[in-house]
Amino acid sequence: MSELKRAGTHDDGDICVNFSSNPHIDDIILARNSRRQVLGGMVAVAGLFGLSACDGDDAGQTQSNATVSAGAAAVTSSGKNVTLAGTATNSTGVLWTQVSGPTVALSNANSNTASFIAPAVSAPTQLVFAFNAPGTNNTVASANTTVTVNPATLGFTALPKLLNDVVTVPEGYSISVLYALGDPIAPGVPAYGNQGNDTNFAQRAGDHHDGMYYFGLNAAGTARDDTSNTRGILCVNHENVTEQYLHAGGTLTVVNGARVDRVEVDREIESHGVGIVEVARGSTGVWAYNQASPFNRRITPNTPMQFNGPVRGDARMRTLFSPTGTSGRGTVNNCANGYAPWGTYLTCEENWAGYFNRAAGDNALRPAKEGQAYGRYGVAGGPVAGLNWGTLAVSDPTETKYRKWNASVVAGPADGTGDFRYEPNQYGWIVEIDPYDPASTPRKRTALGRMAHEGAWPANFVAGRPPVYYMGDDSRGEYFYKFVSATNWDPADAQRTDRLNVGDKYLDNGTLYVARFDATGQGAWLPLVFGQGVLTAANSLYAFESQADVLINARLAADALGGTKMDRPEWAGVNPVNGEVYLTLTNGNATSRPLAGTDAANPRHYNDPRTTGAAQRGNPNGHIIRLRETGDNATALTFQWDIYLFGAGSDLDPNNINLSGLDATNDFASPDGLWFARPSNPSGQINPLLWIQTDDGSFTDQTNNQMLLALPGRVGDGGARTITNTDANGATRQQATIVGRTPGLNLKRFLVGPRNAEITGIDSTPDGRTVFVNIQHPGEGGPTATPSSNWPTSQSGPGNNARPRSATIVITKNDGGVVGL
Ligand code: FEO
Ligand code: CA
Ligand code: CA
Repeated sequence: MSELKRAGTHDDGDICVNFSSNPHIDDIILARNSRRQVLGGMVAVAGLFGLSACDGDDAGQTQSNATVSAGAAAVTSSGKNVTLAGTATNSTGVLWTQVSGPTVALSNANSNTASFIAPAVSAPTQLVFAFNAPGTNNTVASANTTVTVNPATLGFTALPKLLNDVVTVPEGYSISVLYALGDPIAPGVPAYGNQGNDTNFAQRAGDHHDGMYYFGLNAAGTARDDTSNTRGILCVNHENVTEQYLHAGGTLTVVNGARVDRVEVDREIESHGVGIVEVARGSTGVWAYNQASPFNRRITPNTPMQFNGPVRGDARMRTLFSPTGTSGRGTVNNCANGYAPWGTYLTCEENWAGYFNRAAGDNALRPAKEGQAYGRYGVAGGPVAGLNWGTLAVSDPTETKYRKWNASVVAGPADGTGDFRYEPNQYGWIVEIDPYDPASTPRKRTALGRMAHEGAWPANFVAGRPPVYYMGDDSRGEYFYKFVSATNWDPADAQRTDRLNVGDKYLDNGTLYVARFDATGQGAWLPLVFGQGVLTAANSLYAFESQADVLINARLAADALGGTKMDRPEWAGVNPVNGEVYLTLTNGNATSRPLAGTDAANPRHYNDPRTTGAAQRGNPNGHIIRLRETGDNATALTFQWDIYLFGAGSDLDPNNINLSGLDATNDFASPDGLWFARPSNPSGQINPLLWIQTDDGSFTDQTNNQMLLALPGRVGDGGARTITNTDANGATRQQATIVGRTPGLNLKRFLVGPRNAEITGIDSTPDGRTVFVNIQHPGEGGPTATPSSNWPTSQSGPGNNARPRSATIVITKNDGGVVGL
């Protein structure tokens, strides 16, 4: 009985004649109705064996040559893989059946050792199982055993902080590498050389694996199956590149400020976007991707896209490529993700602004509003530090896939159809992709607004109610948003095969809101609706012209409405049981969060000194805020909030910095990825697991980036608190806030990554027994000749100076239980 704690011993090896009189604990536990089920079960069991069951009333006279034992009673907890170990002698077969308790699926019920996953429970709950065996005289002998299931706990020993060059998980868990930078995903594409000379990344895994979702396939691999735990399609964001390891020389070839090597630029462009790759669990339990799958696809910054929603066809969307402003090419800097219950992937365009060049004097060539709008998103005029694809000159005048990254006014009519002056407006959107249709054109959903989209997490998919998406805008001082669809959910749409048309129905019309977090612990959602309130042409900040203008310039609209400027809103997640919404705020610096600039929802200004003594001021460790919608209604216009968790080293001031009382087993900084376990297995039921991933620069002197697991409680489980912030000059200022209950043992470090890597992107199979996690940019910033990480080569032996690769890993529990429980 693996994973079980013995709970006393008693011999449970009774034959069925004793069901009516056996005084042991099983019979005490069973209610009379349950006993009837036992006897009824005996009839069914006998039927399965082709025998007649003994009757409970005259059972005492029946003899049997078979004797059975169902093993000792045991205690376990939700999500554990429980083995029932019976023994039978003189029997012609065996069968385990469940007698009482929440129904579970028994594996290997026809063998002595059956197993099941302990269900989610809110209180200790007894499950009774019968072990049945017919004897040679055709009488079935049976014995019961009881398994008591306790509520879920974080069932692993927390890891220490680590600085080594491997992925480490707790004892009892294993990892394997599934899909790494450069892996070929089409037939005939050669294996990755990893010396910086590979090409054709449009048919290889991209770089910087990020947000991710698992879509099930049936066993034959021919169709969608949301219940599949063994075969599926992974959609993986490829956010960026590490040029030190992507190119042979490790640097960008630049002459007179311009890119000149087309092979280099193509390699970078094609390494961005989204990877769609079929994966399956083999007979030995090892997961692998299928290089030849017809579902495999790379979506890159060159892939054709369609625009939908209120911005489609707007004058600000026109380009030489799309004079009507209804289509475009590519997605870029795809960070976190979302999904839709009709079987599509949502990828989010985050730091797209840095990919565009714009001439220093470009503002003077445009209406003033356009310069203002670009400036608000960081599409600066003058030299930029990015990859500068727009500077690559090619001889073919019809080739515009490089030119489009130059957003300057260059040529053609004033409406922008002769150049790419409006190309930046084609980025910053939520993009919907149908993973089951490799020929489909992704659709950009403009109703959800344009920003540095971090993620888009769904809620409220309840029949007759409007779907809701929660979204962070990841930049210092930006906002938290939600989109409420104009169309109520019809569950019949969940399995339609024209998936992107379903997306049109729910994602092209609705209301975008920005969050205001008030000092009272309450908050409000402010609608970004043109013509309402301040969002008119009369606005003194920016003269809004239309709903398309509001959505393209959502940041300006949120400024005008008075949203709360947050410490870099990263991933949002929704508790699948109670609907509470969690948002990571990865960090703020001394400029974005100065001593005089704290507020109740972003309350800290402090110093987290590195071991070298170097100061890091502002809110370098970040926090996680959460909210409960009024009436637990995701469409509410108001909410209650508190701060669930503050990042901090456990050595920092417990009164003013380490406000969550973190210790050496769970201290962390810069929360980024955040994900609640799927509700289709015990880890996402009753008291769901919360997974927290870090993208940290401030705490990396003490540990590599990490992933923690939490059982997070509820909004309002803590209370009001006033802290004293201190700046570099010793000046102090008091700040009131609202702090959730300290997590204690309900927060544990589960994974530590390799050197210079970010942990980001997570999903699981529906049963929660396989978890996929992304390791992004190991060795980032290190020298090409001597990489600072050699992962994943270093995972299984010497690093051999190998170039590191971003990769998707698979985490499983060695005994087959639900990961984390
Ligand atoms: Fe791509 Fe906000 O991290
Ligand atoms: Ca992120
Ligand atoms: Ca990040």
